[in-house]
Amino acid sequence: MDRFRIVGPSTLRGTVRASGAKNAALPALAATLLTDEPVLLQRVPRVRDITTLRRLLAHLGQGSSEEAGDRLRFAPEGNASPGDAPYELVKTMRASVLVLGPLLARRGHARVSLPGGCAIGVRPIDQHLAGLEALGARVALDHGYVDVAAPRLTGTRFRFATVTVTGTENLLMAAVLARGTTVLENCAREPEVSDLARLLVAMGARIEGIGSSTLVVEGVAGLHGAEHAVIADRIEAGTYLVGAALTGGDVTVADLAPGDLGALLEALAATGSEVGAEEGGVRVRRSGELLPCDLATAPFPGFPTDLQAQFMALMTQAAGDSTIRETIFENRFQHAAELGRMGAEIRLEGAVAHVRGPRPLSGTTVMATDLRASASLVLAALVAEGVTQVERIYHLDRGYERMEEKLRTLGATVERLGDDEKSPGGSAPGGGGIR
Ligand code: EPU
Repeated sequence: MDRFRIVGPSTLRGTVRASGAKNAALPALAATLLTDEPVLLQRVPRVRDITTLRRLLAHLGQGSSEEAGDRLRFAPEGNASPGDAPYELVKTMRASVLVLGPLLARRGHARVSLPGGCAIGVRPIDQHLAGLEALGARVALDHGYVDVAAPRLTGTRFRFATVTVTGTENLLMAAVLARGTTVLENCAREPEVSDLARLLVAMGARIEGIGSSTLVVEGVAGLHGAEHAVIADRIEAGTYLVGAALTGGDVTVADLAPGDLGALLEALAATGSEVGAEEGGVRVRRSGELLPCDLATAPFPGFPTDLQAQFMALMTQAAGDSTIRETIFENRFQHAAELGRMGAEIRLEGAVAHVRGPRPLSGTTVMATDLRASASLVLAALVAEGVTQVERIYHLDRGYERMEEKLRTLGATVERLGDDEKSPGGSAPGGGGIR
């Protein structure tokens, strides 16, 4: 298993371009199941979750190929399975559940393995299923699979009991081909949901209220092919911008809609960082003292849970006490203990993390069990004294495109090591870093 070897401390300076958003590309890939015509998607990030979903789509009879530029072309090919997403393909990625809506709408039937336990909490899909049932589907659970069927879905009014990103996306993809009008209330307003809605409109869907919490969908008989550019990855971008504030650096992430990062930019400004627009993106720099800050995660436009771990790494260096409340997932503080092993002082109290800064961090071997927690450890390593080895980089590879290259562009000393490569000067777990 690959790992990163990071030598700190370093200061991030320079410009990187944001990749396409993983969490916008995933539903876009699933949406290609809604038509027999080719769909061309641009700015799809080369990350492992995309490879996983392409494999699942291929199993479902939807082929994909790389075209000139960074375009991916999706079109049906032979040997389709009858709408069956098996455990082996679903277990590694919860977002596989996104094929439920389009398969049901298009083929009248889907059978998808229930996503298993997850490192960041229980994460049920009850709202996806309640919504599909409201659209007229028969939903059955057996042998670890969810089986949904309906000859044709019928428009309805459905209110999500919880704001759910992939739940909103699944129902939107189901509703576009339903008979009549569907009104979805209490929808997630994340930019990734709006990006999917724009792709669906480009494919011929009729959707109103894009960007709001109520989506009104006028069902159509069929969708056609389209070409669509995926939005920039606000979480990837936010990770590098937090890195700028953390290291007292100066980073521009180009080609990014600043409005998608509003809550993060406000929080960074509150920490004493300078935030501005530059190169069609965002520039963050800090030269003065890093100030503490209290924040809580919330659905968009609130502070994203996917940046909570990275922000916690930042607060370990702030001059004073910060609190971070996680309101979306019940088990998303695994990075806290690993940050503690690097020298951070973090006390967990239910859904609240109390971070006492500033504490000097020192390099050691660390490991995280989810994507964003791993990113927070990489950021911490940038300000830690000596060598940090971040193990199980496959978590990062799920969602960050060429992270080590981008960090090197910004001046960090990062290398990727494979299984057989001994790290000169690496340290054993708990053994402390090189001073
Ligand atoms: N929830 C329910 N019932 C449901 C669905 C969700 O109770 O039917 C609960 C969840 O347990 C959670 C909350 O609602 O407590 C929000 O979950 P949501 O459904 O919004 O999460 P998701 O759609 O599974 C997406 C992203 C996550 C991101 C969350 C929250 C994708 C592919 N994944 O997950 O991204 O953290 O929204 O913004 O879009 C990541 O990229 O690292 C990542 C985990």
